[in-house]
Amino acid sequence: MNFPLFQPIQAEMEAMNNRYREILSCKDENIGRYVDYVLEKLGKQIRPAIVFLSAAICGKITENTYQTALALEMLHASSLIHDDVVDEGTIRRNAPSVNAAFGNQKAVLIGDYLLSKCINMVVNAKDEKLLKTISDLAQAMTEGELLQLSNKEVNQLSKEVYFKMIERKTALLFAACFQLGARSAQISESETEKWQQIGLKFGLFFQICDDLSDFDSKVKTLKDSHKDIIEHKITLPLVLALQNCNQIEKKSLLNLYINHHGTEEEIAAIVEKVKEKGGTDATLQCIKEKKTEIDKFLNSFSTTQYQKCFLQLTNYMLKTVE
Ligand code: IPE
Ligand code: IPE
Ligand code: MG
Ligand code: MG
Repeated sequence: MNFPLFQPIQAEMEAMNNRYREILSCKDENIGRYVDYVLEKLGKQIRPAIVFLSAAICGKITENTYQTALALEMLHASSLIHDDVVDEGTIRRNAPSVNAAFGNQKAVLIGDYLLSKCINMVVNAKDEKLLKTISDLAQAMTEGELLQLSNKEVNQLSKEVYFKMIERKTALLFAACFQLGARSAQISESETEKWQQIGLKFGLFFQICDDLSDFDSKVKTLKDSHKDIIEHKITLPLVLALQNCNQIEKKSLLNLYINHHGTEEEIAAIVEKVKEKGGTDATLQCIKEKKTEIDKFLNSFSTTQYQKCFLQLTNYMLKTVE
């Protein structure tokens, strides 16, 4: 298993990955080559793990849990392949990204292929709620990515816009993992609503950790470092640092952020200024607040290996930035 944290659901994750391979299996060796590349690099698989853990905490893992876990992971994998084209990412899952390996044209199509296989699987499973969720998420995630790109162009720097953007590109998918995972254990509609709300918080928590780690990573990540700064992406540490700047400082930091050429000195100067102005500390504070709420919810359930595993996940996320 790639990610040792999910030991209690290892058997379920392996079974899901066998299905993943089956669904993508392809006799055409031209297409098979790309599919194999995707299947060789599965990533941490946090989203399907959350689906299984939510279901297990709610009482049982069912056939629907497997379908939900796999569909949401395929949607995520497809979005990462497209994201790396958009961001000109070169490293993903500790290896060359799909675009780096095969070029942008093929990467766009491989991402589309994965998404269409996902939709096909859900249509065959005749789960209308899951199908509606996948279609809503595909729209929201695209909107989130577009919002990020257009904000970069107009340099619109508000906390509200940042949260709206990360909700769409990242958090709604996590909300679905929590909600549909719980639902697959056949609990009441009102209970699944609570899971959805906490999932949304977890999604924001997850993306803010990722954004903070771009400034100050505490663990060796598998991705390019300072990628957001290099690409002039506006994230929470910068937004919060700017709130503590006077007009002159603000102008100077913004000018540096927007117009730098990615040299080591410039990046170091940006990181230092954002830290000095409290941007990283305030971001860490926001992360901790979210984690407290998520842990409180998880602690309201009885102590099981699944509940402990879930709590270990939020601890792991915090450790990447604390
Ligand atoms: C990366 O997600 C994309 C973000 C929302 C930051 P993961 O870190 O879960 O990526 P994989 O699936 O493990 O590669
Ligand atoms: C990840 O976003 C892609 C989606 C959430 C759709 P980022 O661009 O912020 O994440 P990384 O840093 O490339 O993984
Ligand atoms: Mg991106
Ligand atoms: Mg990216």
